[in-house]
Amino acid sequence: MISIVYEVGLYRRLLAETVRKGDIVVEIGPHTGLSTLGYAGKAKLVIAIDKSPEAEESFKPICKEHRNVRFLREDVRGFDALAKVVKIAPKCDILAVDIGGGRYSDTVYKVWGSWSGALKPRHSIIRSRTLAEFLQRAEIKDDSVKKKFKDNGWLSEWGRATPYTLRRQLGEFKNYVDITKSIKDE
Ligand SMILES: C[S@@+](CC[C@H](N)C(=O)[O-])C[C@H]1O[C@@H](n2cnc3c(N)ncnc32)[C@H](O)[C@@H]1O
Repeated sequence: MISIVYEVGLYRRLLAETVRKGDIVVEIGPHTGLSTLGYAGKAKLVIAIDKSPEAEESFKPICKEHRNVRFLREDVRGFDALAKVVKIAPKCDILAVDIGGGRYSDTVYKVWGSWSGALKPRHSIIRSRTLAEFLQRAEIKDDSVKKKFKDNGWLSEWGRATPYTLRRQLGEFKNYVDITKSIKDE
């Protein structure tokens, strides 16, 4: 499923409700971790990525208390950040994206599109007012566009236009050791 919300309280609630025991969660833009704390106890592994120094500081005690939470201070617009995450977990169950709900829908869409295409989540939760408005207002006027899709959190069309070298790099990450296997279930 792909869920879009704007209101931050709703985003945190939906994320907390959607995560199942044992899930691997990749959360983009957790800021001080208020959204993360709502589900960290249930998840097998949380990879939280944020570029801000405040986020890095806030996550120090969170990572100490929750040994299943890892924080990466990275800019998610770069391929390097995705490459680091794929090395830790080649796939995830939940992908949550909140890099500021009000603006830059192009960045939100691009980041979510490439990260979900690589990590193939069961469910994506995206916080974006502009994407929400776009979906409310847009109407597809082309019968050739597929109407039914599998209920997962990524786009079936992803990768069709991905350059060969990027696809090869992503494929190579599959050969790395999957450290998530060493994290014990609670
Ligand atoms: C609105 S806050 C997230 C709020 C959080 N989800 C909550 O529930 O409290 C947006 C966060 O996205 C981060 N962010 C924005 N652009 C980013 C980028 N390109 N790479 C990584 N983090 C980014 C910001 O540093 C900020 O911490």
